Amino acid sequence: MKKMWGSRFKSDLHELAKKFSYSLGVDHELLNAEVQTSIAHAKMLGKVSLISEKDSRALVSGLREVLGTLRRRQVTSVMNEYEDIHTLIQASLEKKIGRLGRKLHTARSRNDLVSTSMRIYLRGKIQGLFEVINKFQMTLVVQAEKNQKVLIPGYTHLQRAQVVLLAHHLLAYVEMFERDKSRLLDARKRFNECPLGAGALAGSNLPVDRRYVAQLLGFQKPTANSLDSVSDRDFVMETLSAIAILFTHLSRICEDLILWNSQEFGFIEVDDQFSTGSSLMPHKKNPDILELIRGKTGEAYGNLVSVLTTMKGLPLAYNRDMQEDKKPLFSSLQLAQESLSVLEMTVRTLSVNEANCLKASKDSFLFATDVLEYLVKKSVPFREAHEIVGRLVQKVSESHSSLSGLPFEVYRKHSRAFQKDVYELFDPQVSVSRKWPIGSTRPELVTKQIRAWKGRLKLEALRFKRARRRKQSSF
Ligand code: ARG
Repeated sequence: MKKMWGSRFKSDLHELAKKFSYSLGVDHELLNAEVQTSIAHAKMLGKVSLISEKDSRALVSGLREVLGTLRRRQVTSVMNEYEDIHTLIQASLEKKIGRLGRKLHTARSRNDLVSTSMRIYLRGKIQGLFEVINKFQMTLVVQAEKNQKVLIPGYTHLQRAQVVLLAHHLLAYVEMFERDKSRLLDARKRFNECPLGAGALAGSNLPVDRRYVAQLLGFQKPTANSLDSVSDRDFVMETLSAIAILFTHLSRICEDLILWNSQEFGFIEVDDQFSTGSSLMPHKKNPDILELIRGKTGEAYGNLVSVLTTMKGLPLAYNRDMQEDKKPLFSSLQLAQESLSVLEMTVRTLSVNEANCLKASKDSFLFATDVLEYLVKKSVPFREAHEIVGRLVQKVSESHSSLSGLPFEVYRKHSRAFQKDVYELFDPQVSVSRKWPIGSTRPELVTKQIRAWKGRLKLEALRFKRARRRKQSSF
């Protein structure tokens, strides 16, 4: 048996059409999930007496053997012989246990099967992504802790704006990646329903127990509408969208690190292990790994647009177009996993050039806003204070001096509210330590955040580890 259909056809599929439509080369990724789904289905068939208990047990052990054999074999070597992973497993089962194998497909279709296997596959992959995001967040927190005292200019419009703690900047990314995790978790929650039993589109005349299968496969419940069950790929689009946003963050942190690693900034140095040289210019040390992650963002966005476009015009219910969901999904999952792993190592091994950071943080314009707020504290109306400091800045720009270098008389000429203590403001340490509100860059607040993140991430890592162990023991 090479096909799961065919008796109503006079001729075989044309070779060109086969090559064009067969998907085993891609969907062999689903092998484990697919066998898991089939085992649950076989158990259910026995439970509702559609087959005998003995046959049910024989199907289950046959499927386990098939999994073992196919895991060892290069599935892709037969990719022109079998239409898809479902066909290959079915054929292998029949080869192994004979005619009984033909009972497995009772009361199911590849349409509900593929949707179920995809969900099982995806929840495992999302678990893996959580773990690597978590690890990366922890590395950011550890770097923040190691460099807790380092000050850098913060930027808006890529212009020096106000002094911030390097740790504060790194923790901003920790927040972003936490939202990425919660988006993935949210998607996973929504697709925690089992489509198996929806059949091709309408359900089945046979007395299947959908609740039992859903429970065996660890889903919260069966899906509610058979048409929706086989034609829904929201879970693919939601995951791809969460990964696309994750890549926005990855790309942005890479851009920050590339800038900081440049000679113009000189705030950090990326380790040799994650830098490359130039084939022509012997002195070059380039942050290629960071650039590649930034570059791969294009593929992650493309994968989302690809599936959105594939789905947009499809009439209910299943259409073969939907087979095209796998390549982009697998690609984005792999891209995300690999990019996060290599970025984690890059960030873990980079070094911070404290002296350069400090030097840049002493640029006196970084304190212009502190001077403004100094005046506000002395009851000068905000708009007036803004104008006063603006004029001082203009003076400094014209005279090529600095705000800290202006003589006191100049300050007094601009406002009687100025006292000698204005000069205390031109210290980056003072600047950050006077930042007041929750969420700002004041060192005590940042230290608290570091501590809180460490506890939270450690706990999450522990939870992941436990979930992984539970899964291993149940399969
Ligand atoms: N390989 C197909 C997919 O992934 C599943 C098979 C359903 N095919 C069909 N002609 N009903 O979407």
